[in-house]
Amino acid sequence: MGATPAELTALAVEIATEAGEMLLAKRPARPEVLETKSSPTDVVTALDRAAEELIRGRIRRARPGDAVLGEEGGVTEGGAVRWIVDPIDGTVNFLYGLPDWAVSLAVEVDGRVVAGVVNVVPRGEVFTASLGGGAWLAGERLRCNEGVPLSRALVATGFGYRPGRRAVQGEVLAKVLPEVRDIRRAGSAAADLCAVAAGRVDAYYERGPQYWDYAAGGLVASEAGARLGGLRGGPPSPEMTVCAAPGLFEELSGLLVTLDPERDRSGD
Ligand code: IPD
Ligand code: CA
Repeated sequence: MGATPAELTALAVEIATEAGEMLLAKRPARPEVLETKSSPTDVVTALDRAAEELIRGRIRRARPGDAVLGEEGGVTEGGAVRWIVDPIDGTVNFLYGLPDWAVSLAVEVDGRVVAGVVNVVPRGEVFTASLGGGAWLAGERLRCNEGVPLSRALVATGFGYRPGRRAVQGEVLAKVLPEVRDIRRAGSAAADLCAVAAGRVDAYYERGPQYWDYAAGGLVASEAGARLGGLRGGPPSPEMTVCAAPGLFEELSGLLVTLDPERDRSGD
């Protein structure tokens, strides 16, 4: 079933809004951890599952043939259109009642992301982007900060859940910190990428984000003029994802390459 990027974006906004409303309405004062995934700190709540089910149901109803890749529910095969779903990006923030958690929905056509919606629910902010159509928040077109040197850059980052990954991330961060204005760790990769788009930070880098963490926010940031990629000219990936205006992207990724950040401490 054909649809334009703008139509897919509009549908994604509807679905992300509905999921956000459900999550706000149903979030108990102290959500319980249902189970843990890659480590004891990598948590899933019942509402991560419920939100993904709601989102999958809405996609099925509106566009029955579409494929879906979701953080909690895995892969549903389908046609040329595929939805990339993170029902709650920033689950630890959700658990603690901190405001940076988001419903993140991206839509690919033939493997290319053409629509991205990040609903940062507690903040009431719905970031949207469609390929070639710009990035938007509350009717305003977004532009990332340009012309910022690394030494003046406010840099967002995040950490994985496994100790062996964090040990190296801490090592790398200790070398990045003296070279930049400051660091922010908000707790949602999707929201971090939207923060780059909105000029609330100058750059983002992280080892470990999954496709569902960066697919929608990545389109929002790139439609706002940022470059999204990996190191040494590679694509963004769980190995390393970097995002900033082009000049800063080069400087930050150049520094990161010297720190050999795409590794984990062995054993854990
Ligand atoms: C996590 C968040 C966090 C990032 C982690 C992600 P989750 O996603 O985006 O900011 O540092 O890499 O796994 O687990 O809250 O969906
Ligand atoms: Ca996530």
